[in-house]
Amino acid sequence: MNVSRIIRRGNLTICICDNAAAAAAVVADHACNAILDDPKAKLGLATGGTPVPVYEMLLERQSKGLADFRNATTFNLDEYVGLSPEHPQSFAAYMRDNFFTPAELNPDRTHLPPGIADDIEAAARDYEDLIERHSGIDWQLLGIGNNGHIAFNEPGSLPNSRTRVVNLTQDTVNANSRFFEADEEVPRRAVTMGIGTILRARAITLLAVGPNKAGAVAAALERKPSLECPASWLQQHADVTFVLDDAAAGGLCR
Ligand code: GLP
Repeated sequence: MNVSRIIRRGNLTICICDNAAAAAAVVADHACNAILDDPKAKLGLATGGTPVPVYEMLLERQSKGLADFRNATTFNLDEYVGLSPEHPQSFAAYMRDNFFTPAELNPDRTHLPPGIADDIEAAARDYEDLIERHSGIDWQLLGIGNNGHIAFNEPGSLPNSRTRVVNLTQDTVNANSRFFEADEEVPRRAVTMGIGTILRARAITLLAVGPNKAGAVAAALERKPSLECPASWLQQHADVTFVLDDAAAGGLCR
């Protein structure tokens, strides 16, 4: 039994799990259900430390013949400005290593926002158009930043924002510095799907684990949607599930 408690609030479902592995297994179930519903599903994917065990579980399930992601089309949430797909800390490299290559996805159907372009603002708009041309995302995976950001939509991002170039807050730069050798190497800008882009996905699953996320999760779920907490706009989505371990759920009024 992976879920210890389910709370339903209108269109919002909160699954509270005993530990991080159980939470990742629930999210892996959601991804597998999306691909069972439609083997050619368009999946919105996330990076960061939190989803790593999810990708491991998806690979294991595919190797056992329980799921097949090879015909999926994917769109990632974000990429650092200034990092090419070959850069080892780019989100493109993360996705290749953790999922695309071992899952044998067709590179023509895996998409990330551009990190480098002659006109990065125009390239960001092209990414939004590409998602539109594919008729949108069927299932979107999200993590959450300590300050409540989703993708790289920092506090102050508008709920109808679209894919664009953003400045990262110092908080986020500090959190990301663990992946880089020197502080000067940590990118200060990113291209991110907007909150409006994310809200157009047909179903959304947000995964948060650990006590560091408890404050952001509580702000997202317990208060009215506001610019202060980008994840709070998810309350307005028709089909969203927050999957939490006990620690990340620690700030919720239950
Ligand atoms: C980055 C990513 C987000 C991710 C967040 C949390 O800022 N852009 O998509 O949700 O980090 O990452 P972690 O899972 O490592 O805590």
